[in-house]
Amino acid sequence: MTVRKEGTAVTVLVVDDEAAVRALLASLLGARGYQVLQADSAAEGLEIMAASQPELVLMDYCLPDRDGLSVLQEIKARYPASYVIMVTGMGSEELAVELMKAGASEYLLKPFDTRLLVERIDAVRKLREIELANQALQAEREHLLCEIETWNRELQVRVQERNEALHRAQSEIAQTEKLAALGYLAAGMAHEIRNPLNSISLFTQLLREGVEETETAEYLGKILKEVDRIDGIIHKLVDAANRSRLVVNDVRLDQIVRDSLEIFAPQIEARQIAVTISCQEPIVPIKADRTELEQIFTNLLMNAIEEMPRQGRLAVEISSTDGLLQVRVADNGKGIIPEHIEAIFKPFFSTKSRGTGIGLPVARRIARLYHGDVTVETTSPAGTTFLVCIPCEQQTRG
Ligand SMILES: Nc1ncnc2c1ncn2[C@@H]1O[C@H](COP(=O)(O)OP(=O)(O)O)[C@@H](O)[C@H]1O
Ligand SMILES: [Mg+2]
Repeated sequence: MTVRKEGTAVTVLVVDDEAAVRALLASLLGARGYQVLQADSAAEGLEIMAASQPELVLMDYCLPDRDGLSVLQEIKARYPASYVIMVTGMGSEELAVELMKAGASEYLLKPFDTRLLVERIDAVRKLREIELANQALQAEREHLLCEIETWNRELQVRVQERNEALHRAQSEIAQTEKLAALGYLAAGMAHEIRNPLNSISLFTQLLREGVEETETAEYLGKILKEVDRIDGIIHKLVDAANRSRLVVNDVRLDQIVRDSLEIFAPQIEARQIAVTISCQEPIVPIKADRTELEQIFTNLLMNAIEEMPRQGRLAVEISSTDGLLQVRVADNGKGIIPEHIEAIFKPFFSTKSRGTGIGLPVARRIARLYHGDVTVETTSPAGTTFLVCIPCEQQTRG
């Protein structure tokens, strides 16, 4: 039988103060193919341990410099892969139990039966190999379990992310469908309503021409105004729902904001609203359809103005950072209650008795076409700030 493993001999360190014993063991074990190291004291033994870390240690319990038990404990603590066989001249069962408890792999009594001695050493060597292989397998198993656990967690996160993305996509599709339905409805409605509306307008005008009484004339004037308002609403609905052809140019967002504000000049003046515009130059031009972008700001400005008391304050702030254009539209209206924050971007949601509920969803849809967004940045009973983000770099859209 050979004890060679992968071309290297198994090393045994013999620690015994008796030179004759060491010589006997060295020749016996050498003949079995072990590589034998020798030490005559605990101190020398520990030095060799540190330098060579032999696989096996054959150590006398009675050493001149230290007691064998403490040396055994030290070796097991520092070199757990070295297996120790303890040898003693005066044996007792208690001592054997104590040594085994302290980590000895075997316990032999002097004088030796040489055949038995070699057998026991071979057995310890085999045990060591099996136990170490086992430990390696165990470690590998734990490592694999750990990895599986990590993959599992990653997988769960991914599934969760996908689910959320799917959810978002579905709700966006639903919103887009609502907007598409709105377009269809608006076009049909415009056609159906405009004819009778036109007749009402004409007959009212005719009536007004023949009326002398001022009160009646005033009422008829009001009817005509309301008819105009209905026509205006239809117009807006059709506009908002059906985007006309894209006209892409270099446009500057600050200019668009100023133009949009211009549209509301009469209301701003009538309600004595204080408007401030701050613009952090330079604002780079972007490739966009001016009408589309104007739509975003007219919708936001209209909401802000509708929301504000007389002599309200409207603040518009334009800035550009890291390739992103940002416009903040802030009012000092009553704010949006937390339960409505999600809903306000859904088509047809409105808290106004005459609201259409399409201003914000349309504004957001357009901003997203430009890979940007419209969000509520802050809101409280002291006012609301909407934030429009549009990336400066724009791909041409089909
Ligand atoms: N600046 C604002 N301050 C407070 N509430 C707002 C503001 N802008 C929008 N909202 C809320 O969002 C709702 C949806 O707005 P919008 O889509 O423009 O439809 P509409 O103006 O026709 O109601 C409004 O009814 C209102 O409740
Ligand atoms: Mg609105």
